[in-house]
Amino acid sequence: MTKLLSALDKNQDIKAIITAAEIIKAGGLVAIPTETVYGLAANALDENAVKNIFIAKGRPSDNPLIVHISDMEMLYTLSDNIPKTAELLAEKFWPGALTIILWKKPIVPDITSGGLPTVAVRMPSHEIARELIRRSMPLAAPSANISGSPSPTTAEHCIKDLAGRVDAILCSDDCKYGVESTVIDLTGEIPRVLRPGAITVEELRAVLGTVEIDDAVLNKLSDNMIASSPGMKYKHYSPKAKIIIIDGSLEKFVEYTNKLPNENGIYCLVFEGEGGRLQKKSLTYGKENDAYKQAHELFSRLRELDEKNATKVYARCPKKDGVGLAVYNRLIRAAGFEVITL
Ligand code: TXA
Ligand code: MG
Repeated sequence: MTKLLSALDKNQDIKAIITAAEIIKAGGLVAIPTETVYGLAANALDENAVKNIFIAKGRPSDNPLIVHISDMEMLYTLSDNIPKTAELLAEKFWPGALTIILWKKPIVPDITSGGLPTVAVRMPSHEIARELIRRSMPLAAPSANISGSPSPTTAEHCIKDLAGRVDAILCSDDCKYGVESTVIDLTGEIPRVLRPGAITVEELRAVLGTVEIDDAVLNKLSDNMIASSPGMKYKHYSPKAKIIIIDGSLEKFVEYTNKLPNENGIYCLVFEGEGGRLQKKSLTYGKENDAYKQAHELFSRLRELDEKNATKVYARCPKKDGVGLAVYNRLIRAAGFEVITL
């Protein structure tokens, strides 16, 4: 039985947070709200609890988890020889949607780090998440979806994916950003973004100077390549429908999709205000110039397309800078890297 705990506000719902902390301390699993997406949390330092996260999600065991902390003191328990760059980023972006990869201390079990010598750490800004960590311990928390389906951005998504598979779900508001955190690796010579998110590459460069973007952010890894971030090699975020990104102007998009045969399962995924020009059914994900709104809505729309039994979805292409890079990174994975340039 999965307990549904209502927690909309940290101060009013302290009882729900206390119950969740008890479950975590006893080695259980709790889905929790964060400002990016909902996470499936367990004690990061308890091998058995972490093993159960992999089982509940059906997640491949070589895909490491992010450890969530509530303050800088916790960071120093997980990692040593922390570079100056990490301190600069923590000062500027924590608490917030940034995950930093550092060398791990032996206290972090191999199962949490997917067998890697490094650990991914994030201090979320969501008050309920942080209060829960404060009252328990560092929490390993991947996105709270069944592996391969779009990340959950609402409590309902978590219930749909995980009811019956976890001990509790802390039900709160919809997530503020709607895409997962930016992941930056600081263990190499040059800082490298492994996954774009709401903290943009431009913002990171403003603090650190040179920042590289890993090839896997925009390109499909060939089978013999080793992913710097194991999560990058999995298809991810995929709805049942086949998604095809159309990179080009709205005019070209309208012309292209209007010519397609009128099959029942065909949908267009376009920006607000564009649907009226189409002959096919459509859903929208934010305005063309508002990448935050696109990020906020993308995963919900991908789930909605499944509910509508969409079979083929032609999607308008987001801009590839700022937060748009995060949106494009998720959409191109959902599309299995299929892009038509017009
Ligand atoms: O916003 C987020 O980051 C959400 C919320 C819940 O915090 N969490 C999340 O976790 O998206 P997950 O497990 O779905 O994605 C973590 C990503 C994966 O691509 C994983 O491979 C990568 O981070 N990762 C974790 N530890 C790593 C490490 N030590 N080295 C390289 N990549 C790592
Ligand atoms: Mg995930």
